[in-house]
This record gives sequence, structure tokens and C-alpha cells, in this order.
Amino acid sequence: MSRIISPSLLSANFGNLDADLDMLNLSAAEWVHLDIMDGRFVPNISFGFPVIKAVKARTQKVMDVHLMIVEPDLYVEKFCQAGAQVLTVHVEACTHLHRTLQNIKSLGMKAGVALNPHTPISSVEEVATLADMFLIMSVNPGFGGQKFIENSLDKIRRLKQMLTEKGSNALIQVDGGVGAGNAAALFEAGADVLVAGNAVFSAEDPQKMIETLLKA
Ligand code: DX5
Ligand code: ZN
Repeated sequence: MSRIISPSLLSANFGNLDADLDMLNLSAAEWVHLDIMDGRFVPNISFGFPVIKAVKARTQKVMDVHLMIVEPDLYVEKFCQAGAQVLTVHVEACTHLHRTLQNIKSLGMKAGVALNPHTPISSVEEVATLADMFLIMSVNPGFGGQKFIENSLDKIRRLKQMLTEKGSNALIQVDGGVGAGNAAALFEAGADVLVAGNAVFSAEDPQKMIETLLKA
């Protein structure tokens, strides 16, 4: 089991992203999380390629890109060129998930699969050993700063068990409502990567909050 913190830029200051990226460069976070929203898969629009490229140019962290978009296959190569190193698609948005994951991996990126809160673990059983990471959404995707859905803890435990049974080494990532109050329980349940937006960027001392989450 690994412990990685991936701060979500959705809660960063887009008027001065470099300052937040420099702060993260000095922090214990290994990854940086970029939320891409298209206004169709989720009821919100975030940012696209010019911003991703600007982040790539400044950050020293692993570029963890979370696609909340329909038809992600159309853009896999462009996200790779923009600097994505981990590329996560939603199972609900992929008709041919197996092919999409193969495509992501063939371009040299790590392939992640995200599950909305209502989506059962069984929907990804057949790709247990193909995906490099599974993302359990612990809020309904679209916005930062939402309340953690408690059922997610049990879902992580069940996912962990399924992956163990299948002999998969895939990482488990959790995204939404993560903070100092639930980080320990999430790691204990089997999470490897914690995404945190609001908790990190609204903290008085974001670097200290990242340490707190890591050592929870
Ligand atoms: C939600 C995004 C999250 C979000 C998390 O749709 O996928 O990454 O930024 O934000 P917090 O940590 O504030 O819940
Ligand atoms: Zn996300």
C-alpha cells in the first residue's frame, strides 16, 4: 500500500496558478490533480488544454488528470500531449472501456477508471488487472467542496477485496470531501491516493495540511 496526496487544482487560485504550483512543488504531495469537466458529463465546465500545458510547464509533480467528459476516446492523445501522466476516465462515459484503457496505456500513461457513487464495483471487475488505478468518487462529480458520502468507505474496502482476489496491483484513489477528519479511515480502508481540493487550498497552511493528510 502506498500513500500519495494529489491536491486538486479546482480549488486553487486560477488568477495566480504559478504561486499555488510553486507551493505544491515544495510540499509532500507527489501528484497534482487536474479536473476536466465538459458541461455534459457533469453540470460544470472547468478548464482545458492551455491550462493543462501551463501546469505541466511549472509543476514538478505527477500530472494526475481526471476526465469528467463524454466520449473521452476522442481526446486521449491530446491529453497525453498536454502532459497527462495518469489519465482517468469514467466507466459511465465509456462504451468500450477495455479499448480505452488499452489506448491510454499504449501511449505510455497510467490508466485510471473512475466510478460515480451509484456505480457498483462489479462494473469494473473484468478490467481489474488492466487498469493501473481505480478512482472511487466520494461525492457526485462536478464541484469542489462537497460533503463526503459515507458509503464510500465500505465501497473502498469491497474494491480492495475484489482487487486482491483478482491479483490486481491497481491503486485505489478517493476523490471528493477528503480532509483531515477522514484521511486515516480512508487509508485504513485501502486507499492509496487521496485527492483533496478544498481541504488543502482553504487551509491556512496548505503544506501542513498535506503533511497532516499523509500522516493521518
Ligand atoms: C469533483 C472533483 C474533485 C474535487 C474535489 O468533481 O473530481 O477532484 O476537486 O474537491 P474537494 O476535495 O473540495 O471535495
Ligand atoms: Zn477529481
